[in-house]
Amino acid sequence: MHSEPLELRVIAESEIDQIFQLDEITFSSEPVPPEVQAIERGLLELDRSVGVFDGGTLAGVGLVQTLQMAVPGGLAPLAAVALIGVLPTHRRRGVMSSMIRHQLHSWHESGREAIAGLTASESPIYGRFGYGLASMETVFTVPRHRAGLRPVPGARDVALRLAPTSDPDCRRTCEEIYARRVGKRAGMLMRTEGWANAYSADPESWRGGKSALRTLLAERDGRAVGYARYRTSSTFDDSGVAAGGVFVGELHADDIAAYAALTGYLVDIDLTASTTFYRQTLDSPLAHLLTDLRAANVHVRDSLYLRLVDVDRALTARTYSTPIDVVIELTDELCPWNAGRWRLRGDEKTASCERTESAADLALDVRELASVYLGGTTLAGLAQTALVTELHPGAVAQASRAFSTDLEPWLPFGI
Ligand SMILES: CC(C)(COP(=O)(O)OP(=O)(O)OC[C@H]1O[C@@H](n2cnc3c(N)ncnc32)[C@H](O)[C@@H]1OP(=O)(O)O)[C@@H](O)C(=O)NCCC(=O)NCCS
Repeated sequence: MHSEPLELRVIAESEIDQIFQLDEITFSSEPVPPEVQAIERGLLELDRSVGVFDGGTLAGVGLVQTLQMAVPGGLAPLAAVALIGVLPTHRRRGVMSSMIRHQLHSWHESGREAIAGLTASESPIYGRFGYGLASMETVFTVPRHRAGLRPVPGARDVALRLAPTSDPDCRRTCEEIYARRVGKRAGMLMRTEGWANAYSADPESWRGGKSALRTLLAERDGRAVGYARYRTSSTFDDSGVAAGGVFVGELHADDIAAYAALTGYLVDIDLTASTTFYRQTLDSPLAHLLTDLRAANVHVRDSLYLRLVDVDRALTARTYSTPIDVVIELTDELCPWNAGRWRLRGDEKTASCERTESAADLALDVRELASVYLGGTTLAGLAQTALVTELHPGAVAQASRAFSTDLEPWLPFGI
C-alpha cells in the first residue's frame, strides 16, 4: 500500500532517465537505445512536463510539445501531447486523470494554446477528457502487379534521384518541401528542428528488420519539387518468388506531376510484391490515381484527437467555409470555463465567439466540437447519432457546412 501522497510536478533534468525507463515499462518495449534517447531529448520540453512522483520514483509522465497546426484559414498554436504513461504499479488510481486535468487547467490559466492534440495508443482513452476524433488516417497497401496509375501530364519530365537521408542538404531540401505543404490541409503540423531531426534519423532499432531509410527526391529543372522516405524488405516465398515490401513513411510534392512520378517509382521496385503507404487520407491523390483501387488493401483508423482548451479562442482561430451565426449550448465537465452558451459568427475571412443569453440553436459536448473543428467529421454526421442536438431547425445544416472543409484534415507525422 502507498502511504505517501503522490506529488505532481515538473520533471527535472536529473530525472530524464526515469522518463525513458517509464516509457520502456509502460509501452513494453526494449530499453531505449542511446541514439534514440538523443533524438527524443531533442523533442523534450522539460519545463512543460508533468511528472507524478511516488517518493523519488516517477510513476506517471505527461509530455507536451509546442507546435503550430494548420487550421482552416491559417495556423494555430497546438499543445501536442507527446507521451502519457503510468507505471503498471500505479494504474487506475487516477494518475493519468490528474495529469490531464493539470495540463488543461495550466494551459487555460497561462493563456497559451487554445487547442491541444494527441494520437492515442488506444482509441477509448481520451474521449472522457473532451478529446474528440478530428482526423482519420488511411493506410493503402498496393499489390505491385495491379498498381497501375492514371497518366498525369508532366510526370515523365520529373527526374528522380536517391539522396543520402542523413545528409544535411538532403534533410533541408525535404523540410523545405514539407513546409510548403503545411496549410494545404488542416491538421498538418509545422515541423520543429527536433522533428526534422527525428524524421531523417535512422537508428537500427527503428528498422524492424527492414532496409535503411531511403530518400527519393523528385526534381524539375534542377529544383527539388517532391520527396518520399521509404524502406524495403527483402523476402522470398517457398517457391523463390520475391515477396518483399516497400514501406512509405512520407510522400510530399509541390505538384501532382512530381507526386505521380514518385508514386510510380514506389509501386514498382524490383523484388517487391507490394507497397504500403502509411498515414494517408482517404481522399489522397493516391486514391484517385490508382486504376485498380479494389486491388489495394485500404485500412482506415483514428488519427488526431483534439481538445479545445478555450473554445472561444479556438473557434476564432479558424475561418468558416460559409457564413455561420449560431448559438451553441456547450457542456464541458473538465473545463467549466467552456460550458454554457456561446454565439459563434464567422465566414471565410473572420470569426467571433462571445458569451450570450440568447436561445441556443445547437447543443453538444466539447468533445464533439473538437471532432468537427478541422472539418473532417461533420456536425450533420454527428447529429445522426444524437451527439449533437438541433434546437433550431436548420442550425445543424448551416453549421455543418460552415465547419466543413473541401479536403480531409491530415496529420502526416506522428506526435
Ligand atoms: C493508459 C494509462 C496512461 C492510464 O493511466 P491511469 O493512471 O491508469 O488512468 P486513470 O486511473 O486516470 O484512468 C481514468 C479513467 O480512464 C480509464 N482508462 C484508463 N486507461 C484506459 C484504457 N487503456 N482504455 C480504456 N479506458 C482506460 C480508466 O478505467 C478510468 O476510468 P473511470 O474513470 O471510469 O474509472 C496507463 O494505463 C498506461 O500508461 N498505459 C500504457 C501506455 C499507454 O497506453 N499510454 C497512453 C499513450 S497515448
